[in-house]
Amino acid sequence: MAVDRRDWDRRHREREFIEHLDPNRFLVPEVEGLTPGRALDLAAGAGRNAVWLATLGWAVTAVDWSEVALGKGRLLAERHAVEVEWILADLREWEPSSRAFDLVLVAYLQPAAEERHAVWRRAAEAVAEGGRLIVIGHDADNFTRGWGGPSDPASLYTAEEVVEVVGVALEVVRAEQVLRPVEAEEGPRQAVDNVVVAVRR
Ligand SMILES: C[S@@+](CC[C@H](N)C(=O)[O-])C[C@H]1O[C@@H](n2cnc3c(N)ncnc32)[C@H](O)[C@@H]1O
Repeated sequence: MAVDRRDWDRRHREREFIEHLDPNRFLVPEVEGLTPGRALDLAAGAGRNAVWLATLGWAVTAVDWSEVALGKGRLLAERHAVEVEWILADLREWEPSSRAFDLVLVAYLQPAAEERHAVWRRAAEAVAEGGRLIVIGHDADNFTRGWGGPSDPASLYTAEEVVEVVGVALEVVRAEQVLRPVEAEEGPRQAVDNVVVAVRR
C-alpha cells in the first residue's frame, strides 16, 4: 500500500522528539575518517543524520516532503547550534545538482521499486568526483525474519537491487545485509537492514 505525504506528517507528529544526537548506527563508521565537504541527505526525516553530519563540519542539505519532519529537524539543528539547508520537496520530482556532493545519503526510503530506483539514480548522479553514496534500508528478508519496518514486501529491497541501479554510475565498495538490534516492548529483537556504499573515482 502506498504511503503518502500526509501519512508521513502524521507518523512524524506521533514520534517523540529526540533531542540528543542519534545518527544511524551503520552511517557512523562509514563517515568516520572522511574529510567533511558537501553532504546531501535525501528523505532526511527529522534530521538525525543531517544534524549529526553538520556537527562534524559537513555542509548539509536535507530533503524531505514532510513539513513536520523538517520542523523537528530545524529544532534539532538549533539545539546543536548547527546550520542545515532544509528543502521541502517530493523526491519523485526533485533533482539534486549533478556531481555536486561529497556524500549523498538515502536512508530508509522505501517506496515502490520504480520510485526508489529513480531516487537512487538521481542520488548517484549527485555524487561529486571522489565522493560517495550511502544507501541504507529495510531488507527484503526483514519481512520473514526481521523486526518492524514496512509491512508491504513491495517496499522492501536487497543490497543487490541497489547495486544494480547505482553500480551503473558508481563503483560499489560495500553491499551487504546487516542486522540492527532493536529494543522492542517484547524484549530485544533484530531488524534486517542492508547497506550499500558506492564511490565516484
Ligand atoms: C523512515 S523515514 C527515514 C528518515 C531518515 N532517513 C532516517 O533514517 O531517520 C522515511 C522518510 O522518507 C520521507 N519520504 C518518503 N517519500 C518521500 C518523497 N517522495 N519525497 C520526500 N520525502 C519522502 C518521509 O517523509 C520520511 O521522513
